Amino acid sequence: MLAPFTAGWQITDVNPLIIDKSEGCYVYDINGKKYLDALAGLWCTSLGGSESRLIEAATAQLKKLPFYHSFFNRTTEPSLVLANELIELFTARKMAKAFFVNSGSEANDTVVKLVWYYNNALGRPKKKKFIARDESYHGSTMIAASLSGLPALHYKFDLPLPFVLHTNSPHYWRYHLPGETEEEFSTRLANNLEKLILKEGPDTIAAFIAEPLMAAGGLIPPPATYFEKIQAVLKKYDILFVADEVICGFGRLGTMFGCDKYNIKPDLVSLAKALSSGYLPIGAVLVSPEVSEVIDSQSKEIGSFFHGFTYSGHPVSCALAIEALKIYKEGNIVDKVNKISPKFQDGLKAFSDSPIIGEIRGTGLILGVEFVKNKSPNDPFPEEWGVGNYFGAQCEKHGLIVRSGGDTIMLSPPLIISPQEVDELLSIFGKALKATEERVQKLKSQLKSKL
Ligand SMILES: Cc1ncc(COP(=O)(O)O)c(C=O)c1O
Repeated sequence: MLAPFTAGWQITDVNPLIIDKSEGCYVYDINGKKYLDALAGLWCTSLGGSESRLIEAATAQLKKLPFYHSFFNRTTEPSLVLANELIELFTARKMAKAFFVNSGSEANDTVVKLVWYYNNALGRPKKKKFIARDESYHGSTMIAASLSGLPALHYKFDLPLPFVLHTNSPHYWRYHLPGETEEEFSTRLANNLEKLILKEGPDTIAAFIAEPLMAAGGLIPPPATYFEKIQAVLKKYDILFVADEVICGFGRLGTMFGCDKYNIKPDLVSLAKALSSGYLPIGAVLVSPEVSEVIDSQSKEIGSFFHGFTYSGHPVSCALAIEALKIYKEGNIVDKVNKISPKFQDGLKAFSDSPIIGEIRGTGLILGVEFVKNKSPNDPFPEEWGVGNYFGAQCEKHGLIVRSGGDTIMLSPPLIISPQEVDELLSIFGKALKATEERVQKLKSQLKSKL
């Protein structure tokens, strides 16, 4: 069986669901069965699966200039326009430059190279380590998988690479001590971060990377005061903050970026996915004026800045992304999310009393549901019961696509989801939950009768 994050290794004997076409918030399989796609592809298709403006923008660009690269002081107009648009759109902190890549993983790889180049330029050759968090997901290239805090991405791949250190996951429900408030928990985690920095030596730590809301690793919003306290520690030791906005960016949390929601002032930002509503591969790294000035002057001095990809700033992806940003702005996507999200969040949180649900967490149009025994984070269901997978299969049977990561179910529907579609989502969710509760009951009885 494929591991949850494995994508490209195609095997045919597991009967994959073969998706054939999409329309708004729905996708259809090759047998014509219709599914409400409550994961927006893979946290991607914010504008649904058939936005004609995106298709037209890409088609027009394909006809005009289907390809040109951005090496050797050559580039294309769409890539220049998109860079300016992104810098204007990101207001949590002023950004100066955008570097284009083709995916979230490439964005995070690029971040590491930029930060190393920056510290070399400043004459700080030892300041190279990155601190990431347990349970985070930053992608699957060598560097991005190393940054990720999920053991399955490391095991048997000889990862993480030694320049990456991991600090605590910010999951309050799972890791808080008895009687500890969210604020106290955040203080403890910031103290632990500081201890790690001091143990390693502040002059060896280059950057800290975090998703504003942790997504693929279990859908974990930050506890109260967390980022405020973490940023204070980083500032004290001159450590850069990298915001991985690959999932949170472009309205998902009810703010244009996750950094707006949690008052994060990053030095670098990774973007991908909803940048093109997933229609074409494109990602970007935004870089602050302070960091980019140092990189610029170093590259002028040594005569080159040799980093880039053949498809960096691909004109068709850029033209499509420019149109996506136009739709986000003109259609006020943030308002849209804030209007629909109470129905989505409250509707799903109404299932909290289920005996098999431990925690439902989320904000905006992203939410996670964790199945446990006895409502306790310390009492998981036996892995072989496959509770999360069973729930996911029940959803699929009734025409709803969700993601099950172990016993955590993740939802992130297209941002254009309508109230009727939320009702449909809730109705199928309820049916799948009932079936899963019955199955758990049956498995418990079988276990008892064996004892
Ligand atoms: C927060 C985050 N960063 C990076 C990535 C990697 O992106 P990609 O799969 O486009 O390489 C992902 C993918 O889900 C992600 O969720």
